[in-house]
Amino acid sequence: MAVHYELIKTCKQTGARLGRIHTLHGTIETPVFMPVGTLATVKTMSPEELKEIGSRIILANTYHLFLRPGHDVVEEAGGLHRFMNWDRAILTDSGGFQVFSLSDLRKITEEGVSFRSHLSGEPLFISPEKSIEIQNSLGADIIMAFDECPPYPADRDYVRSSMDRTYRWLQRCVEAHRRPEEQGLFGIVQGGMYRDLREESARQITSVDLPGYAIGGLSVGEPKELMYEALEHTTPLLPKEKPRYLMGVGSPDALVEGVMRGVDMFDCVLPTRIARNGTTMTSQGRLVVRNARYARDFSPLDPECDCYTCRNYSRAYLRHLIKADETFGLRLTTYHNLYFLLRLMEGVREAIRQDRLRDYRNAFFEKYYGSVE
Ligand code: GUN
Ligand code: ZN
Repeated sequence: MAVHYELIKTCKQTGARLGRIHTLHGTIETPVFMPVGTLATVKTMSPEELKEIGSRIILANTYHLFLRPGHDVVEEAGGLHRFMNWDRAILTDSGGFQVFSLSDLRKITEEGVSFRSHLSGEPLFISPEKSIEIQNSLGADIIMAFDECPPYPADRDYVRSSMDRTYRWLQRCVEAHRRPEEQGLFGIVQGGMYRDLREESARQITSVDLPGYAIGGLSVGEPKELMYEALEHTTPLLPKEKPRYLMGVGSPDALVEGVMRGVDMFDCVLPTRIARNGTTMTSQGRLVVRNARYARDFSPLDPECDCYTCRNYSRAYLRHLIKADETFGLRLTTYHNLYFLLRLMEGVREAIRQDRLRDYRNAFFEKYYGSVE
């Protein structure tokens, strides 16, 4: 089996899960946050640095690598792991979501999605078969089904028909998958914010035996409470012996709330993206180090953090670098933000082990957001 989940225990206080995902490129302790390396690089981070902060899995994007350099180039290089010099696990998203958020003039039919490249304007087409062909070439350990993520808000009839199509597309993905011994294919539950549709989608998607299941269509602009509700209704319908992946979620509060609702895996560009415009996550909450108030603040970014950035550099220096568009500044804030989220998840795992995730959550929220909410 390419991907195998091992449930170690559930937290007595919350029901959160502690587990491990075994892949051909190593074992991942869950719950896990996966840094996003869209173009076969986690922006500004070397693989050595990613290892240093404890990343065991990163994400890359089918859509972007299809556009450049082309999956044929990556395949010729010996696959994504060799191409980018990363010997730990990789997950690729299928391209569906990125086509919708980035490309122009897209048109969805039963066959697939036609669109124009956001780079060249060139007309392109991705079908479930094409997405799997690209992902088979890239060679990630976990690959994702080609799905449609409806916008929020979207009317019920639209969500229903797109969700039914996502199910038919899943069956075509399974059929097209050429490397099931090396790459685990995950299905994606859709259904928008409609409870009964989510339930039906979960039934459809889990009727296909797969090594893992994702929850898609969330964190698309809906209020957080709606997302938590949708999660509460969805995770109980997913098999306990398989990992659950909440796509595109990475704010500290949503990570902890997601874990409490039974999620094992997360990814998001948030920590790396905000880092590059000078916003950081610290034990005391968000800190916009770019702000003028830090011009003469020679204390570390986060006094409670022991990452390379916080051990060696001041807020004033980070602010200066970011203001001056110096690449080293981007590296330092990115390094810290990823370190912060990976330590948060380490704390989450330890709290589950000790059956005290609710206490951990409350203590974290009080410090980070100034309230328990
Ligand atoms: N990333 C965030 N949400 C989604 C989703 O619904 N589908 C896919 N494929 N990727 C996502
Ligand atoms: Zn730090």
